[in-house]
Amino acid sequence: MSMVFEIQDVSVAYGKVPALNNVSLHVKQGETVALLGVNGAGKSTTLRTISGLIKPKSGTIHFYGEPIHKMNAHKIVEKGLIHVPEGRRVFSTMSVEENLQLGSYSARATIQERFNLVYELFPRLYERRKQLAGTLSGGEQQMLAMGRALMSKPKLLLLDEPSMGLAPIVVHTIFDTIKKINESGTTILLVEQNARAALRLAKRAYVLELGKIVREDITENLLNDKVIEKIYLGG
Ligand SMILES: Nc1ncnc2c1ncn2[C@@H]1O[C@H](COP(=O)(O)OP(=O)(O)O)[C@@H](O)[C@H]1O
Ligand SMILES: [Mg+2]
Repeated sequence: MSMVFEIQDVSVAYGKVPALNNVSLHVKQGETVALLGVNGAGKSTTLRTISGLIKPKSGTIHFYGEPIHKMNAHKIVEKGLIHVPEGRRVFSTMSVEENLQLGSYSARATIQERFNLVYELFPRLYERRKQLAGTLSGGEQQMLAMGRALMSKPKLLLLDEPSMGLAPIVVHTIFDTIKKINESGTTILLVEQNARAALRLAKRAYVLELGKIVREDITENLLNDKVIEKIYLGG
């Protein structure tokens, strides 16, 4: 498996307050990798740093071998690294279809091809394609945020807490779809507080604590780990 992307020794601070401390992690072609951690651990900061919204104080980030840690966020997006931020920000006064259209600026795919794929993954979005995004349920808005990201045919998808605030049955649908997105060839870095669901989906995971990676392992080991169980799995 070839390396899609690699962070090495990245440190980030908000002003003088450190948020990430020598974080290193990597994702290989075709993987779904989970990044776990309690609230405030630095998960979103990690994703914002990868997508160029925050510049690291030190360390390097490579995407398909190319350094991106000094690149503008919009350039990084053009390279195919797409971030679905927490809180699913959809354009609420636009229709589902218009929201999707806005995600389709990439030259990597034809619009129709991508609409077909997104509507196949999310039949609910097809049913509601003329509806204003602001009138969708939380789960449907999450589907739309992910669908919009898929319109540009991402090479690496960064998902920040896609299950946040959703009812269990909807969480199930969302995780099912993430699995399908991965199976259709998209590499994924998944940030989740719903550790059990994330560990079932991913093959490998990192645990972030107070801005440091404290554990990297295959998910099977983490699911059977007493410490992890106590902190993250409600055991
Ligand atoms: N914009 C910001 N300005 C200052 N501090 C921030 C900002 N965003 C996050 N932080 C701080 O950085 C740390 C990591 O936050 P975050 O990456 O959002 O964690 P997580 O996503 O794991 O909940 C926290 O201590 C948080 O308070
Ligand atoms: Mg967060």
